[in-house]
Parts: sequence; structure tokens; C-alpha cells
Amino acid sequence: MPKRINFAKIIEKQLPAELVNFMWMAGEIAHTRGEKLYLVGGVVRDLLLGQANLDLDLVVEGNAIELARRLKKADQAKITTHSRFNTAKLQWDDWSVDLTTARTESYEKPGALPTVQPSSIEDDLARRDFTINAMAIGLNPGYYGQPLDPHGGRDDLKAKVIRVLHEKSFTDDATRIWRGLRYEQRLDFHLERKTLTLLQRDIAMLDTISGDRIRYEVECILKEKYPEKVFRRAAELGVLPKLHPALKGDDWMVARFEQARATCSPEPPEAGLYLSLLAYSLTAEEMGRFISRLRLPKSLAQDLNDTIALKGKMRLLATPGMSPSGIYRLLDGYTSSALMANSLATESPAASQNIHLYLTRLKDIKIELSGKDLKRMGVDSGPDIKEIMELLHKARLDGKISSKEDEEEVVKGRLEAKQS
Ligand code: CTP
Repeated sequence: MPKRINFAKIIEKQLPAELVNFMWMAGEIAHTRGEKLYLVGGVVRDLLLGQANLDLDLVVEGNAIELARRLKKADQAKITTHSRFNTAKLQWDDWSVDLTTARTESYEKPGALPTVQPSSIEDDLARRDFTINAMAIGLNPGYYGQPLDPHGGRDDLKAKVIRVLHEKSFTDDATRIWRGLRYEQRLDFHLERKTLTLLQRDIAMLDTISGDRIRYEVECILKEKYPEKVFRRAAELGVLPKLHPALKGDDWMVARFEQARATCSPEPPEAGLYLSLLAYSLTAEEMGRFISRLRLPKSLAQDLNDTIALKGKMRLLATPGMSPSGIYRLLDGYTSSALMANSLATESPAASQNIHLYLTRLKDIKIELSGKDLKRMGVDSGPDIKEIMELLHKARLDGKISSKEDEEEVVKGRLEAKQS
């Protein structure tokens, strides 16, 4: 390990006092129980990079659930436990801390979840994905702040390198292929040469991963600051076709993702918008297969299906001189992600403007008279009421009327015309 580093100071400088105090206390309680406690994984990496990360992952050589129960008493946190992996989550106020029992893992077959066995911190670090994620910091009194870096994570951080710990890493767990690309692009690092070779060798292993696990990886990518960089790199390396062979991670996609961010700013774009842009070139049939490969939930599937359905209407929407009510009729009922995706993707400025008009104004235009009001005015049957309401709505959209009084005038006119 290069120059000794004082993590106690780094922790104190970078993490909020409440979490620092929690870690002190947790280290002391673990010590009294004869257990060793460590801070591990992404937060250690980010402490060294000087980047904010408040997701504490603690590993204990001992029993995570029992320790969590002791900590909960001291801290009044909410606790969730998983006995299969002997893990616990503590949550209080805005904070959330994961506690796991140090373990070894063995993979019976590629893609399956591993069999786990309680073990040492060294074994626990050795089961991890990349060297930069395989470092730990001691939290027990006497060891507090002491680094553990058996795989050269700190050197790789300095060299800006993503490196697996062993040859079978991607075979054991092919989701690491996506994770590797995500870290590479997020941190502006590069995949170390051998790691890159192994990654490309094992791309086919992605077929062994369940839809739910693949979807989780895609969701993580979509939460990145620049998800398009990950998809572009995935296309370059031949990983993207594993989501669907017809997906394109090209300059067009990159530009649309950037535009989506500019349009939605200061909020990040919704996952459904990004996904719709990523999958914009798919046919309806291809989209169906993409949705089922990722086992997308209903709302995301709806965004994607709406996107394709709307794509087929873009020509019509580009017709010059469309009335507002005509635009409304075409666009009513589609999700806003599908509308925005089409607005960003269409070649036609007129169609894009019409979607913008719909989203910013037309979709919120309502009539003021209710069915009850109409009945009171003398409109009798259900179908008549529906017809008049639609007529009023159309007149409102097209700016022919603009107040409740105007609406009443129209209704009166209709009733008189009917009587005469
Ligand atoms: N990990 C792993 N293999 C995986 C998933 C996770 O080895 N397939 C390990 C890594 O050591 C990782 C830790 O578990 O650091 C925690 O996982 P996660 O929270 O997903 O990773 P973070 O590094 O915290 O990533 P991020 O910054 O994206 O939250």
C-alpha cells in the first residue's frame, strides 16, 4: 500500500457528524461484542475520491443482524433484516446504513445468486467486483480509520482503472459487465486491458441474468448523471445488443439524452423518457420483446408502447395549420414521457411544436360546467350531456369560448335550436 493514509480525518471531513458519531458508536459496540466492524465498498472509494456518498455499507466479522439490533437500541432506528444473507438495514431520519456479515460466496452456476458462508473481511473483499470497490476501513477502537486494501484499489483509483479481482468475475456475475461500464463512464476511468478482454469474452453470460436483475442495472444507469455515455460505450463493446439487438447507442441517442436533460432541468428526466429515447428506433414487436426481457413494470411499458404508437402519428401531427382541438384529439391519453420522447425525436419542428403546445397548455384546458349543471339547465339524456361537454371542450380548446358564461350561452343556444 502506498503512503499511509489517515481515514479518521477523511471520514470526519467528508461525512456528516451524525454518521461519524454513529460509526464510532457502532465500532465500540462491535468491540464489546468481540466483533470487528468495517466500512466497505463504494463509500470507501468515494471517500478517497473526495466525492459525496452517504450510503454506508458496514461489514462485521460476526453477526450483522444481532449487531444491528444492539445498534438500533442505542440509536432508535428502524431495522429491516434478511436472514438468508444475515444482513440488516438501519434507517433513521434521513440516514440509511447497511450491515452485512463478512462472507465468502460461491457461484454454483453463472447468473444464479451465490451460496454464502460467514467468513473474514479478507474473504469478503475478495468476493467483490472491482479493486476500487474492494477496500475497507476499520471502525473498532484501536483500529479506527485503518485501511484494508489487499487488491490494490487505491493504486487503481490513482491510475483511474477499473480492474476485476479474478478471471471468473464476469462469469460468476455478468451484471458486473454493466457495473463496470457504469463506473468507467461515471468516474471517467478506463477498463484495464485484461479486464476489458474478460468483459468482452463474457458478454454472452448476460443471457444467464434474470430480467429483474438486468432491469435493476438499467435503472442504476438511468440514475447516472450522463446515462448516454454508458449506453454508447455498451454499444461500442457489443454489450447493448444484449438488452435488444436493434438498440442503437449512437450520436443520435446521445444528443437526444442531452436535450432531454436540458428540457427537464432542473429535474433529471424520468426513466421512462430516457428509455423511450433509447428504444425509439424499435418496431412495436421489438419493443414488446425489449419490455419482456427487462420485465419492465406497467408504467414504463406504457411509456414505451405509447412512444411507438405516437411515432406512427407524427406525420399527421406535422400537418400545417392543425387546430388546437385536432392536436388534442391526436395526443390525448398518451403518457407525458412518450409525448416528450416524440417531441425530442421527431424530425418535424411543426409536430414538435404541437406536442409542446399540448403539454404546456392544451392538456390542462377544462370546461367549467359539470354534468349536473347541464342537467339543471335542461339537458336530459346521458348521450346528449356527453356530446355537449365534448362540444364545449372543443370550443374552449379552439379559443371560441373562454368563460363559464360563454359555455352557458352555447348550451342555451343548443337547447333553443332543439326546441324550435
Ligand atoms: N458488489 C459486488 N458485485 C456486485 C454488486 C456489488 O462486488 N454485483 C459489491 C461492491 O463492492 C460494491 C458493494 O457491493 O461496492 C455495494 O454495492 P452497490 O451499493 O451496488 O455499489 P456502490 O459501490 O455503492 O455503487 P454506487 O456508487 O453506484 O452506489
